[in-house]
Amino acid sequence: MVSTQALLIFFSLWSVQSALALARPYLPVPGLAQIRDILANLEAPIISALTERINLVTPPDLYANDGAGLMSYLLARETSAASSGRYDYGKLEYPFTLPPIPPDIATPSDPFPPGRFHQDTYSGNPNITTFYLTTLVPFFNSSTSYFYHLDNSTYNPDAVYNLDATLLALLSHRAHIGKVVAETKYASNVTEMTKLIKASDSAGLLAAITNTTQEAAVYAQASTAASGFSAGWIQAGAILPVTFNSTLEAATQTLFHELVPITSEIEVQYVRDLNVILLRRH
Ligand SMILES: *[C@@H]1O[C@H](CO)[C@@H](O)[C@H](O)[C@H]1NC(C)=O
Ligand SMILES: *[C@@H]1O[C@H](CO)[C@@H](O)[C@H](O)[C@H]1NC(C)=O
Ligand SMILES: *[C@@H]1O[C@H](CO)[C@@H](O)[C@H](O)[C@H]1NC(C)=O
Ligand SMILES: *[C@@H]1O[C@H](CO)[C@@H](O)[C@H](O)[C@H]1NC(C)=O
Ligand SMILES: *[C@@H]1O[C@H](CO)[C@@H](O)[C@H](O)[C@H]1NC(C)=O
Ligand SMILES: *[C@@H]1O[C@H](CO)[C@@H](O)[C@H](O)[C@H]1NC(C)=O
Repeated sequence: MVSTQALLIFFSLWSVQSALALARPYLPVPGLAQIRDILANLEAPIISALTERINLVTPPDLYANDGAGLMSYLLARETSAASSGRYDYGKLEYPFTLPPIPPDIATPSDPFPPGRFHQDTYSGNPNITTFYLTTLVPFFNSSTSYFYHLDNSTYNPDAVYNLDATLLALLSHRAHIGKVVAETKYASNVTEMTKLIKASDSAGLLAAITNTTQEAAVYAQASTAASGFSAGWIQAGAILPVTFNSTLEAATQTLFHELVPITSEIEVQYVRDLNVILLRRH
């Protein structure tokens, strides 16, 4: 028999917990120059993980059924990661197999002024999964696994999926920094952006957030980083197939040419988010 008092205690604890979950920290967004530096510094870890992944043999059926094997590997990892707080508010880490954290809802006392990060409902991870499985995986075509100078014959699914998971998390994190970019751009021209948001003008929003000079700089940096990595591996005497450098460079180019549009879509969805409009209309 559960006593009324016990129930009351339970419900008051539950409502305290809900209130705590809603009291999210005030996260002001950095300026665009600083965000560009952060993004530039994320290129090396991505290309480094890609280098390691390219050097592992991939059985032809490894990603069959829309990557079901990889997805179940991710589910186990992400379940444990979520319980440790990896995907909590403001970390810009989003799971591939679990529901995202709830979005922010503005209230008069908590109005989310321009320049303050808010959590929206959009995730770019389904797009990242699709491009990973259909576009990037074909570059993982080495017929042997290369572990620098040592044994290069071993196929180990855990080693492969582990690098897939690392790469996917890095790509997702980088792409979702688009939310911060979007908030910064919104704050820099609230009048213009609000007009576009109210008109649901996705093309106009995309044009307003796109900077082709900056995109060209990202592609050039990525290309330089990829040739730097491949040259480094070759010069250090790693045992590699002769196509290693050209494969890494082509994979890197393809990757960044897909990641940039996915990031732009995350930015557009962020500013379009209905909560933002309703909230900020006050
Ligand atoms: C690793 O692969 C290279 C190139 O295919 C081959 O020449 C070499 O014998 C392999 N080494 C080992 C330890 O299997
Ligand atoms: C906002 O955007 C509009 C349209 O692009 C432009 O005319 C205006 O100068 C911008 N304002 C600021 C403060 O950047
Ligand atoms: C576009 O990006 C370039 C290079 O990062 C930067 O110098 C320029 O100020 C940006 N333009 C706008 C309108 O933000
Ligand atoms: C790859 O490396 C080889 C050997 O160092 C070199 O001959 C070739 O030009 C390189 N290819 C590319 C695309 O950089
Ligand atoms: C792997 O794919 C790259 C890029 O399409 C290609 O240049 C290379 O020849 C392929 N390597 C093998 C071993 O098939
Ligand atoms: C993301 O996925 C959606 C749904 O498949 C698709 O309509 C959209 O074009 C994709 N966006 C990008 C940038 O790939």
